[in-house]
Amino acid sequence: MSKKHIKFNIPYNSKFSKKNILKVFKNNKFADGEFQNKCKLFIEQKINSKCVELTHSCSSALEIAMLLIDLKKNDEVIMPSYTFTSTANAVLLRGAKPVFVDVRSDDVNLDPKLVEKKINKKTKAIIVVHYAGFSCDMNYFLKLKKKYNIYLIEDAAHAFLGKYNDKYLGTIGDFGAFSFHETKNFVGGQCGALSINNLKFHKKAKIILDKGTDRSLVKNKKKYYSWKGIGSEYRATELSSALLFGQLIKCNYIQKAREKIWNKYFNKFYKINDKNFYILNKSNKFKISAHHVFALIFKSLSLRNRFILYMKKKGIDCFFHYYPLHMSNFGKKIKKIKLPVTEKIYYGLVRLPLHPSLNVSEVNKVIKIAEKFIRSI
Ligand SMILES: Cc1ncc(COP(=O)(O)O)c(C=O)c1O
Repeated sequence: MSKKHIKFNIPYNSKFSKKNILKVFKNNKFADGEFQNKCKLFIEQKINSKCVELTHSCSSALEIAMLLIDLKKNDEVIMPSYTFTSTANAVLLRGAKPVFVDVRSDDVNLDPKLVEKKINKKTKAIIVVHYAGFSCDMNYFLKLKKKYNIYLIEDAAHAFLGKYNDKYLGTIGDFGAFSFHETKNFVGGQCGALSINNLKFHKKAKIILDKGTDRSLVKNKKKYYSWKGIGSEYRATELSSALLFGQLIKCNYIQKAREKIWNKYFNKFYKINDKNFYILNKSNKFKISAHHVFALIFKSLSLRNRFILYMKKKGIDCFFHYYPLHMSNFGKKIKKIKLPVTEKIYYGLVRLPLHPSLNVSEVNKVIKIAEKFIRSI
């Protein structure tokens, strides 16, 4: 058994990324360069999207989506509280209000039936989060979108290359936001992308991404571009894109490696029929996970904390997350609410190491030690 410390995450290091970064220096072009365009085209083709724009983060992709739908003061956007701050920040930055709704306990994704109860005249959009890379119930959300004539945005930060039926996550709603942050399956340092699935927004998106100008729309080289509206610097840098492209071309290898480890954990822990914990839903033929997170959900906060400490003492990093937004001091200023399932999940959830550099003996070690803890409680 390996004696090495087992890290929670190690970004995949592709030799192509190093080559690409050197090429950026050779090209001496650090913005709007070859690799930014290559990533855009690769992602469009891979996930079958009509338009992808590479951004410097998923946070900025979500902010762009909010600008595109012209979100304003007094508008409401429904979302889970069990998410990263970026999902809600994007809404608050436009002066609108996030409305937090509880999640389901089986997949930790928004509960569509509870969402419908919160829709009113002020509701402008729903942001779903495909937690852990595993799809929300998109059919139901598409029905809500149509019934109430509201926008549907997919926070697919975890979910690049996950699927719902035959469609890639992030391409089903009006927009899909992806993260290529260092902590994600594919890494551009700090990087992200926005899939713009609603064709009517393509032109406006370019203006927003070009700091409010029509720079990339002016085809006549003699004509100078001008200020057309609100926008900002949201594009990914060329160096980030070069790093990311080196990983994208290894996407089959990276995803297969993650899937293999995920399945190994699943097959083992599924068989341990213990009342003290359960595991997140497994992919089925309608939903293919992006295998971003493997999580155990303990029945209590003390068990979860004891587990993390136990694993740490044995040299294995395991982490909980998210601190639910509605429970934070800032979130309480928006509205004081109780979301029983979200709170239970937060108290119980712990993520195991999952990255392509984990070898078989390390995965076996994680399983063996976790099992020992579970059997001892
Ligand atoms: C659900 C979710 N949305 C958005 C983000 C923000 O992603 P980024 O760091 O690329 O801005 C994260 C980050 O982990 C996330 O988990």
